[in-house]
Amino acid sequence: MRKQPSYFLLLTSYFLLSMILPGLIDVHTHLRVPGGEHKEDFATGTMAALAGGITTVLAMPNTTPPLTTLSVLQSARDKAQQNSYCDVGLFAGASEAHLAELPQLADEAVALKIYLNDTFGLLRVDKLSTLLTCFERWPRHKLIAMHAEEQSVAVGIGLAAAYHRPVHFCHISRKVEIELIAAAKHRGLPVTCEVAPHHLFMTEADVDRLGALADMRPKLATAEDVAALWAHIDTTIDCIATDHAPHTLAEKKSATPPPGVAGLETSLPLMLTAVKEKRLTLDRLVSLMSTNPRHIFGLTEQPNTYIEVDPDATYTITHESLYTKCGWTPFAGMQVTGRVEKVILRGKVVFDRTQPNPMVGQRGNGRVV
Ligand code: NCD
Ligand code: ZN
Ligand code: ZN
Repeated sequence: MRKQPSYFLLLTSYFLLSMILPGLIDVHTHLRVPGGEHKEDFATGTMAALAGGITTVLAMPNTTPPLTTLSVLQSARDKAQQNSYCDVGLFAGASEAHLAELPQLADEAVALKIYLNDTFGLLRVDKLSTLLTCFERWPRHKLIAMHAEEQSVAVGIGLAAAYHRPVHFCHISRKVEIELIAAAKHRGLPVTCEVAPHHLFMTEADVDRLGALADMRPKLATAEDVAALWAHIDTTIDCIATDHAPHTLAEKKSATPPPGVAGLETSLPLMLTAVKEKRLTLDRLVSLMSTNPRHIFGLTEQPNTYIEVDPDATYTITHESLYTKCGWTPFAGMQVTGRVEKVILRGKVVFDRTQPNPMVGQRGNGRVV
């Protein structure tokens, strides 16, 4: 008599092949609504997130117009609710012209973003008086995040100390900056920071090869800066955030290419590759890409939400496989190990690589947080 197949063995081999991780949170994504829908929109950006194992994205306010008024923010929220495949939170943007609206903006946004240095878009705060008003008017229970480079990091740390409230630093990229943040943390100051994969896996040498396709703010740094970031991966760095900043190839090839690169779909594969190479542990990866982002931004846990990953799948990153509307990545040609197979959002399978069309979720499955 033939024996029944051993379900125990089947199950074991299944779990040997795949690995379950919590849904990832990307606290730095540009979804380009309103005004930049030819680069990305809530549907394409959140599909790209799911394909990268990310179930919550926090969208940046440097849109056109920017998310600095209640009406623009509310309209973006409505569009996010109707079109998103994963959960989305919106940042409000700080601007001198709309300081009076900050308390109302806080009701609709997850956090406030202040741009201290030049980058894509027009949002910028140059005056100290504007910074002080932001710190006075933005409710204390919601976070303030900053695009701060070089000396501006010291300004942010000074404000965190003076107002005795948390400040989160976006896309930290330089040795001096990470070392200053380490010193501030050592002193007990309430500062946190994120690092983007492109600053961990590329250096300024890649600009020679890729030109504008490797241009972003902060710019790619030296090998010494990159080494310093890796040296702080288990300590000072709180989150890995993609800074997914899609621009079309035509824009990138123009005479005035805008800074920024896509990142939602390559972040986890790159970090899993680093785990395989023993540059960090899997536990640390989960802290950097899920637990810490949730705690820092005060997000509630998504129930029954997890991702299945094949940690041994080795493949080459290509432009063709991407869901992001911009359709290109600076990491094309790079070999990585680790692939998202399935994403479950609140008990529902929303991405399944075994299906002819893996994006089995629907618009509107995502919630605005
Ligand atoms: C971002 C963009 O394109 O919106 N660009 C970038 O180079 N990082 C803006 C930003 O995050 O600074
Ligand atoms: Zn920035
Ligand atoms: Zn950004």
